[in-house]
Amino acid sequence: MPSVSILKTLLRELITHKQSPRVNEPDLVMDDLKKVSAYTRAGREDGVMAPVYLFHCAQICEIINSGDTVVDLGCGPATQLAMVARLNPKTNFIGIDLSTGMLEKAQNYITEQGLKNVDFRKGNITDLSFFDNQTIDAVISTVALHHLPNIVALEETFLELNRILKKNGGLYLVDFGHLKSEKSISDFAYQYSESQPELFTLDYIYSLRAAFLLEDFKRLTSKHLKEAYLYSTFLAPYMVAIKSHSRCDKLNQGVIEQLHVFRDNLPEHHKKDLADLRTFFRLGGLHSKLLE
Ligand SMILES: C[S@@+](CC[C@H](N)C(=O)[O-])C[C@H]1O[C@@H](n2cnc3c(N)ncnc32)[C@H](O)[C@@H]1O
Repeated sequence: MPSVSILKTLLRELITHKQSPRVNEPDLVMDDLKKVSAYTRAGREDGVMAPVYLFHCAQICEIINSGDTVVDLGCGPATQLAMVARLNPKTNFIGIDLSTGMLEKAQNYITEQGLKNVDFRKGNITDLSFFDNQTIDAVISTVALHHLPNIVALEETFLELNRILKKNGGLYLVDFGHLKSEKSISDFAYQYSESQPELFTLDYIYSLRAAFLLEDFKRLTSKHLKEAYLYSTFLAPYMVAIKSHSRCDKLNQGVIEQLHVFRDNLPEHHKKDLADLRTFFRLGGLHSKLLE
């Protein structure tokens, strides 16, 4: 059951008419070493983002196959990417990021884990010219799009990923959606402030302020990503996901079992966060089949 304070926040979003403006992230590319470290620490699989990473991991496992080449846009320290790559050792992954600091953290993490199926490229996700047309089996991106400076850059990114994706390719893009009220933004950002570094809480506020509007995601998805569906969390679009149809011919039982082990090993408060995220997305139409 979601907490009373979150329900209050969602209610406020429903009755607020005025839309708070989108404000760019102070660091579009995450190059500040302190912030890179705070994000990396809070983001590792036992950090505050653990349930969110697990949710996205399960979604991503539905849209990739063995033998695929999968591109991760704005991979950051590769926490999400490593989790997916470990579960799918026969799939090849390429993480793209513009931040040298993030890419160093990412490479170290992948090396530490002994993963052989992940490479990285330094590049801008608005220009994927190092990939030819229709050569990539799936594209994923988790909480990175709000780092783009404006809607033009978001549209360029959608055009690029559409260009590199093979026909019937897989897609899972997820990011924050823009909340109407500044008070709601701060409620969301501060809900875990006691269990995360202060820099991470600040980064969360900046991210929510920089999130694109649901309307923008809807317009660009229907214009450029016709094969994909757009989902948002119920009542307020604090998270938005764009997902293609499932591409697994048959669900891999081993992957499902490992996802369930992750889920069952989460501490109780993270289990609750995962359950809330699943509920709000399910009510918005996005099911998490592999975690059922
Ligand atoms: C909030 S982090 C998300 C990292 C990761 N996907 C995750 O789920 O933890 C956003 C990342 O996007 C990167 N980024 C921002 N703008 C970018 C751009 N135009 N091209 C490539 N990477 C970008 C940042 O450097 C940062 O590492």
